[in-house]
Amino acid sequence: MVDIRTPRNEKEWEAYYDLRFRVLREPLNQIRGSEKNDGDETGIHFALFENGTILAIARLDITENQMAQVRFVAVDFDLQGKGYGKKIMLATELKSKTLGVKKIILHARDYAVDFYLNLGYELKEPSYKLFDVLQHFLMEKEL
Ligand SMILES: CC(C)(COP(=O)(O)OP(=O)(O)OC[C@H]1O[C@@H](n2cnc3c(N)ncnc32)[C@H](O)[C@@H]1OP(=O)(O)O)[C@@H](O)C(=O)NCCC(=O)NCCS
Repeated sequence: MVDIRTPRNEKEWEAYYDLRFRVLREPLNQIRGSEKNDGDETGIHFALFENGTILAIARLDITENQMAQVRFVAVDFDLQGKGYGKKIMLATELKSKTLGVKKIILHARDYAVDFYLNLGYELKEPSYKLFDVLQHFLMEKEL
């Protein structure tokens, strides 16, 4: 059974940040701990559980002017391309709507741009290079 919700206990939080580290930081030669930032205190955390295991994650930050930013989207290795990323992104949109958010923005890694285009995000402009190597692109979606 698939369930999307915030982690509820220490073990689930560990699995959540572990997935973030393994998929989004370790391949870029970053150390453990680099997967967390200050926004984790205030962000809304999404974890997709299947039979108790976290397979996909995302964080939603509510910003000003009825806007939000999606960050740290990741699906575990071997499970990518099976629809989990889409499911977790739709959950962030649904939650945004219930909070009155009118526009979501994100900074997509170059190789993830097509994934977000497929979800109806518009490509705006190149934004920053993560760790000086990985080009990101600003994308937006009106809800
Ligand atoms: C990018 C990522 C989140 C996408 O999640 P996913 O579960 O692999 O993607 P899904 O299976 O939900 O794909 C949804 C749709 O987007 C398409 N899609 C997914 N990844 C794509 C890609 N890189 N390029 C083009 N299309 C893509 C799928 O074909 C699918 O299309 P459909 O709905 O028409 O069948 C996931 O692959 C991932 O974690 N990658 C590594 C980390 C990463 O890049 N995170 C994003 C940081 S910005």
